[in-house]
Amino acid sequence: MAATKLTQEEVTSRFVRYADLRPCTTAFIDTRTPGSEQKENFTIIGPGVSESPDQFVHIDIPHGFNIGAARQPPGCVNSQHSHETAEVFVVHSGRWKFSLGPDALDAEIELGPGDTVSIPIHVFRGFTNIGDGPGFLFAVLGGDDPGQVTWAPYVFEEAKKHGLILLQDGRLVDTAKGETVPPDGTPMPATTNEQVNSLRRMTADQIKGCVVREAALDDASVRVFGNDGPGESAIIGAKNPDENMPAGKMSWLHGFHLRRWKFDPGYSTPWHARDEAEVIMMHQGRLKYIWEGGELEMRAGDVLSAPIGHARQYVSGNDEAAIAYVVRGGDSPGPFTEIAK
Ligand SMILES: [Fe+2]
Repeated sequence: MAATKLTQEEVTSRFVRYADLRPCTTAFIDTRTPGSEQKENFTIIGPGVSESPDQFVHIDIPHGFNIGAARQPPGCVNSQHSHETAEVFVVHSGRWKFSLGPDALDAEIELGPGDTVSIPIHVFRGFTNIGDGPGFLFAVLGGDDPGQVTWAPYVFEEAKKHGLILLQDGRLVDTAKGETVPPDGTPMPATTNEQVNSLRRMTADQIKGCVVREAALDDASVRVFGNDGPGESAIIGAKNPDENMPAGKMSWLHGFHLRRWKFDPGYSTPWHARDEAEVIMMHQGRLKYIWEGGELEMRAGDVLSAPIGHARQYVSGNDEAAIAYVVRGGDSPGPFTEIAK
């Protein structure tokens, strides 16, 4: 593997601090609907599934997956919709209820910080902040272009009542602001009963099989980098005998892997590189990303995309454990390559 030499600027262009996240509050058809109008949508690694030209994409380099996020105040609802790809939520803060089915009545499950749910393709899902403060969660979608979402029929009716029309090419027309359907635009027909009936329905027991609780991860961790490195726990993805890593509970194909790192204070990885995309979603503590010629420090809520082939070392802060959720490209990523220093 050829070591990739990068400047501080090149690496920081792949780093998004939580405080610098640029929200879009008009990303979707339900953004005027009472109960949903206060949600903030983020596209960190794009293009995502936003329906608004106002959505800012922080990192537009194709990774084979998308990283987005949502921040919502207490009681705020993200309406029922279905995707053409895998959608995985990692809760960063707050308590959340995920509801399934076209009317959110089929099944529900509650998640807290560090918990993960992988909602299968072609299932209506929505989520509500049920905590008493703002909540933030990461969402990982499969593929470079995850396409558009299919909204449940009631979402179109509610949106129309509050002035929003969704066009077939994904644009939104805000009639409350005086906008009209442009000559080159065709309103998206509301989802039909036939389409609803063609989607999958899930029971409460079935969705439990798609959830990994953070509390279960420490016992399942493997010291992939040796005893001074993080405990690494598989959440999504196949087993990798090269790393002595078992399969994650969600072992079906997503197009990416998800694992969780927990570093004790002051622990580090050896210098190494990888052949696949690696994205760090910081959950707790501090973690330095060090490369030849530079370093940066990640804190809770920050996201870094480590370049393919880039020689690096991760070092945790001395004061508390560092926890990160790590997304890697492909269904069968290989092991890291150690680099002599
Ligand atoms: Fe979604």
